[in-house]
Amino acid sequence: MIKTICVCGAGTMGSGIAQLAAQAGFSTIHYDLDPAMLKKSRLSIESNFDKLISKERMSATDKQKCMDRIVLTSELRDCIADLVIEAIVEQQQVKAELFNALAAINFPETIFASNTSSLSITGLAKQIKHPGRVAGMHFFNPAPLMKLVEIVSGEQTEPDTIQTLLAVAKQMGKTPVVCKDAPGFIVNRVARPYYLEAMQLIEQGLTDIKTIDRVMEATGFKMGPFALMDLIGMDINYNVSNIVWEALGKPERLRPSAIQKQKVDAGELGRKTGKGFYDHVQSGK
Ligand SMILES: NC(=O)c1ccc[n+]([C@@H]2O[C@H](COP(=O)([O-])OP(=O)(O)OC[C@H]3O[C@@H](n4cnc5c(N)ncnc54)[C@H](O)[C@@H]3O)[C@@H](O)[C@H]2O)c1
Repeated sequence: MIKTICVCGAGTMGSGIAQLAAQAGFSTIHYDLDPAMLKKSRLSIESNFDKLISKERMSATDKQKCMDRIVLTSELRDCIADLVIEAIVEQQQVKAELFNALAAINFPETIFASNTSSLSITGLAKQIKHPGRVAGMHFFNPAPLMKLVEIVSGEQTEPDTIQTLLAVAKQMGKTPVVCKDAPGFIVNRVARPYYLEAMQLIEQGLTDIKTIDRVMEATGFKMGPFALMDLIGMDINYNVSNIVWEALGKPERLRPSAIQKQKVDAGELGRKTGKGFYDHVQSGK
């Protein structure tokens, strides 16, 4: 039975997941190495709740109850929970180190879920002492709004772990789908050409960013590829492209784009840095 969730990482995804955990009634420990990110996350969660209040979808009392459920910390020793969901940097080694450090101080039953977009869950689990309690729990951006959660089963993930994560996702009001571990899982694999073909059109000088976004949105996509890359974060999206491409044997059709690499190298990461393919006004600072 999950009562306490520790959400590691207070960036784009961790903040949204911590909000969801608190809203679903779980005691929520929100951990990040960087106290400034925790502060920013708290402001963002409060602002999301205020929007719900203004739409009469949340009461001020419930907002306070949710905020009271969230404990912010930069200390690993505070991270004792029934379920750990990590949304830190997309590097397998760093994620494995975090899980192992937490496994050493947590309960023998604690489940470790990774919000990775593209790393192998089987590969990550192999580095952890209890691979049966490691799985993927892949939320989509923005986590509080997007209904889908991919629950990713690695080779050694135990069925009980999957059942527990399904129940938690449902308690958060999500629509979970179980999928097997494979590069990009389902959504990120299918979505890769959406970004890559759009960037190829730009590289070939055939049209411009705004036109592509407008056209795709007019055909029913919620966001055009460039607006979506800015939302996701250029570094995250470029990393996913590289990992999926390499994991599938570097097929030419999925080769990551030079345009995106230039953006990453220039630090133009999208909404989170105020500039990506578009200019953005930053909030929460
Ligand atoms: N951005 C997206 O749209 C998206 C969608 C689904 C999944 N993901 C995945 O979620 C994870 C996080 O992505 P994000 O966009 O939120 O990243 P982000 O860059 O916005 O935030 C990462 C946070 O992790 C913290 N951090 C880094 N290393 C840490 C460590 N060792 N211990 C504790 N905190 C640490 C950083 O301080 C930062 O606050 C990645 O694995 C990414 O692939 C991202």
